Amino acid sequence: MFNVENVLEQLTLEEKVLLCQAKDMWHTNGVERLDIPGILLTDGPNGIRYNKPDSYLPEPSTAVPTESILSASWDRGLIRKVASLMAEECQYYGINVLLAPGVNAKRSPLGGRNFEYYSEDPYLTGTLAAEMIHTMQEHGVGTSIKHYAANDQETRRFTEDSSVDERTLREICLKPFEIVMKKAKPWTVMAAYPKLRGQHLCENSYLLQEILRKEYGYEGVVLSDWSATVNKVESHKNGLDLEMGSFYRKEELLSAVQSGDIGEETINEHAKRVLELIKKSLEGKKETDADWNAHHETAREASAKSAVLLKNEQGVLPLARGAHITVVGKFAEQPHIRGGGSSGTNSGSIDIPLTFIKEYADVVYAPGYESEQTDAVLIQEAAKAAKNTDAVIVFTGTTDLTESEGCDRINMLLPESQIDLVNAVAGVNANVIIVNSSGAPVEFRQIEGSVKAILHMGLGGEGMGKACAELLFGDANPSGKLSETFPIRIENTPAYPFYPGYNDDVIYHEEILVGYRYYDTKKIPVQYPFGHGLSYTSFTYSDLRLSTNELRNGEKLAISLKVKNTGNRIGEEIVQFYVSAPKSYMPRPEKELKEFAKVELKPGETKEIHVKLDDSAFSYYIPHLHRYAVESGEYIIMAAASSQDIRLSETIIYHSEDELRLPFTEYNSMGEFYNDDRYENVTKKVYTKLGITENHFMFPILSSIIVKDLPAVMALPKVSPDGEPISIPKLQRCLLENRWID
Ligand code: BGC
Repeated sequence: MFNVENVLEQLTLEEKVLLCQAKDMWHTNGVERLDIPGILLTDGPNGIRYNKPDSYLPEPSTAVPTESILSASWDRGLIRKVASLMAEECQYYGINVLLAPGVNAKRSPLGGRNFEYYSEDPYLTGTLAAEMIHTMQEHGVGTSIKHYAANDQETRRFTEDSSVDERTLREICLKPFEIVMKKAKPWTVMAAYPKLRGQHLCENSYLLQEILRKEYGYEGVVLSDWSATVNKVESHKNGLDLEMGSFYRKEELLSAVQSGDIGEETINEHAKRVLELIKKSLEGKKETDADWNAHHETAREASAKSAVLLKNEQGVLPLARGAHITVVGKFAEQPHIRGGGSSGTNSGSIDIPLTFIKEYADVVYAPGYESEQTDAVLIQEAAKAAKNTDAVIVFTGTTDLTESEGCDRINMLLPESQIDLVNAVAGVNANVIIVNSSGAPVEFRQIEGSVKAILHMGLGGEGMGKACAELLFGDANPSGKLSETFPIRIENTPAYPFYPGYNDDVIYHEEILVGYRYYDTKKIPVQYPFGHGLSYTSFTYSDLRLSTNELRNGEKLAISLKVKNTGNRIGEEIVQFYVSAPKSYMPRPEKELKEFAKVELKPGETKEIHVKLDDSAFSYYIPHLHRYAVESGEYIIMAAASSQDIRLSETIIYHSEDELRLPFTEYNSMGEFYNDDRYENVTKKVYTKLGITENHFMFPILSSIIVKDLPAVMALPKVSPDGEPISIPKLQRCLLENRWID
């Protein structure tokens, strides 16, 4: 294998410039003269989308559940299994870097690409993304974590300018990237299309240089989203290594180096990173056959383990084998399994739900709808079919037209044709069960009262059809829990009405209150809370134990908890650990997810689970300190079955060395000094010297004098009450320096 430094020394400027830009749509340049090939990068998060040159139809690959529903499994092992599958298919096609995973924030359920992103919670997102990245790269295939960063909408994505306050940027938008940088080292990071604070993301020096390189210590390649580079020279100056999507721009960079606008050492740095990426890719390359059957089985397993049973009144599910069932809804025969846009796959085999449901039951089928528009005749036929059967399964969901790259949804509603269908069958049958396929929340309020059960399959990939049949008839036990809240209506969501903004101004007015952070803090009722999901069995939690009740910086808190399966089926429970700081210097969400564990239990079985929390579970971003810090005080540690189902909690006291409050200045008032515990001792001494007693503070005028004015106001007394001479400037210094000066 070549030596990067040696190669770099031999390269001409033109060859180095070429390394920094794509050769064609999916390849980088190599150095032909030295037998160094370019590498192949392709989409995407939900399976491989590989187009052979000159072909518009992607090669066959396994469509796995989209990130939005895979994350509802909260299952690190499952993510690793899915990642191994994708890595194997990449190796099969000779793909060196997969353009995945997507980890952007879900400011609004309307985000058109939300299905490509994991969760509304940055900790869950970052943790699962790190598993995905680590596993793929272990198998010799690189990843490209995307879209860096604050690219949280599709509307005007090439021109919009995100205005995000520093704390929200850190705690919501960047957090998943930060977690990933610590836990896994992605070979590449994809800089996104829009602007942040007026600067395009491919040339955003704050994000690329200050945060990614300096703070996170990232050493891999920063590449552009496809054709996202607006000013090529500025981008390279500000930290972009590799321009993708545009391949005719070498002259721009060449002449910028020749004219001295950009230093050759900068190009050397970028070219070096690209060479390192090529080297890693070549070293990771393996000749592999893809085991398509095993991959299909993994896709099915992933779908079954991710699905969320939202509602199950009177135990209508699981259905009895051999029951007489009506199935309605076109999605039963043409399932909606993926979103639209660059992550679309071409799966070789798709499980059809209707086929698999027929293996369990005596089925009557009626399509009920053809499109989003209500068809009265189809609905009538469906209602007729629904009469006198044991239950009706209705397939609902969004379509590729509504959930896709390039556009945001305009509302959170199910199509009218489906709402009318559900209400019509509910008029003739009391046991209506919904199987929903969407990559983001939909409003159920128009049908909620008419249905007994809702099984949310998300965009479940090619194995979703069999998985849903197994779940409906109890061959599999639902264990997924929502990785994003299902709000009651769009008007209740945090970014409403700021999303997607006006003109190009996208202002994150909701700040850190995204998802459950918003609903739980503001006590806004939701349809189904974050972390919610039912099972066919039941679990109890007991014996929550903490390793200590007092913590200090750098120490870890070990937590243990017992979970028991109290029902009569084997099942898996996802236990969530939230931390709440009831009192804090700056506003904080009512609670935040800090850890989770998934455990499988046989009927009657109890297992103990163990997790650990470190400083990051208690800290938050303090803008004036330019870092995360932990506040001293009381914290509640909660073990929960969802963000709104807290089963057990314990309290700890954190003694932190961090001082979060701004130091006082000469513009703070005497009263503020007097009432602040940091200055209390010195202030008391100063006031004693001045002969000021607590009674003086009865006169607001005295307490509101700012320290700067102390000499003027205290011009008269020259001796203290005990007869000693006093110097007002000295006392003023005592206050400002917060120490007694003799
Ligand atoms: C998308 C990326 C994708 C790239 C290549 C862009 O339009 O934003 O997510 O990886 O195209 O298909």
